[in-house]
Amino acid sequence: MTASPSIEVDRLTKRYGDFTAVDDVSFEIHPGEIFGFLGPNGAGKSTTIRAILDLIRPTAGACRVLGLDSRTDAVEIHRRTGFLPADLALWPNLTGKQTLQYLANLRGGVDWGFVDELTQRLDADLSKKVGEYSSGNRQKIGIIQAFMHMPEVLILDEPITGLDPLVQLEFHTLLRETAQAGRTVFLSSHTISEVERVADKVAFIRRGHLIAVEQMSDLQDKALRRITLEFAAPVAPEAFRGVEGVHEVSVEGATVTAQYEGSMAPLLSVATRHDVVSVASASVDLDEIFLEFYRDEVAAAGGDPSREPDTSSPVA
Ligand SMILES: Nc1ncnc2c1ncn2[C@@H]1O[C@H](COP(=O)(O)OP(=O)(O)OP(=O)(O)O)[C@@H](O)[C@H]1O
Ligand SMILES: [Mg+2]
Repeated sequence: MTASPSIEVDRLTKRYGDFTAVDDVSFEIHPGEIFGFLGPNGAGKSTTIRAILDLIRPTAGACRVLGLDSRTDAVEIHRRTGFLPADLALWPNLTGKQTLQYLANLRGGVDWGFVDELTQRLDADLSKKVGEYSSGNRQKIGIIQAFMHMPEVLILDEPITGLDPLVQLEFHTLLRETAQAGRTVFLSSHTISEVERVADKVAFIRRGHLIAVEQMSDLQDKALRRITLEFAAPVAPEAFRGVEGVHEVSVEGATVTAQYEGSMAPLLSVATRHDVVSVASASVDLDEIFLEFYRDEVAAAGGDPSREPDTSSPVA
């Protein structure tokens, strides 16, 4: 891609005391891309987003948005960016409409016709007081305020939280239109199925470390495949362990199930030493790949998926 990046995160590190929330993370997002930022709870997604928007200061490294430095040009960046925070706080006594009018006046340059269109597409109700909304309806107000000034860059922290499936579909259509218009979308998520539906590029973060940045199409190509082999008689699992490209062998009676990457040949050559009755192979979907990242997280935390630091003393 030739255009200069819309968002650049360059060796970003954020420490709270001796706890490292984000550790030497770098990536780039280009105009027209939808970037999915995936990771379990406490992985460092919101921390990275806050550093990009200068809501917290990095311990080391730098972020740039539209070529502007997050620390020195935050006002300009905020003007040209739409942001949906994960913990959106609004005024409970204002109606949805009053909230959006207030925010639109602060920003300036909002076309109210577009607000009406967003309201209709997301099936939002602007007449109620924000304090009386269901969580999904409150989230819609958050999405509308992020989109309403047609910003060049959208940064959305878990945007589909609370949205029902039909509204999610419409929201994803909106994201695709936004990217097709050459604007940039950064969204964080817990679910690969969401990211798989919309993102062009995906990054996995775990325990503050960026463990992979992939084009979605490459990731789909790399998906592991699963093979099920039926034998005439039970076979010892050891026969398949250590075979090139083979993972997760399980045996139940005369049925052997394994996951493999790349060529099936090494696995088949071992299998055919026994009396094979049938072979079936299927693609493992990305959900399972992502769950493996989660499982590693659980194992690394000694069985506890949370990695909240035990001290809460340092602040941003
Ligand atoms: N102000 C703070 N002081 C101390 N630790 C913090 C602070 N803010 C975040 N952390 C810690 O940094 C880690 C990363 O938090 P972050 O909010 O970025 O995670 P996340 O990936 O957004 O998770 P979630 O999916 O739950 O939203 C967590 O362990 C969190 O407790
Ligand atoms: Mg978060």
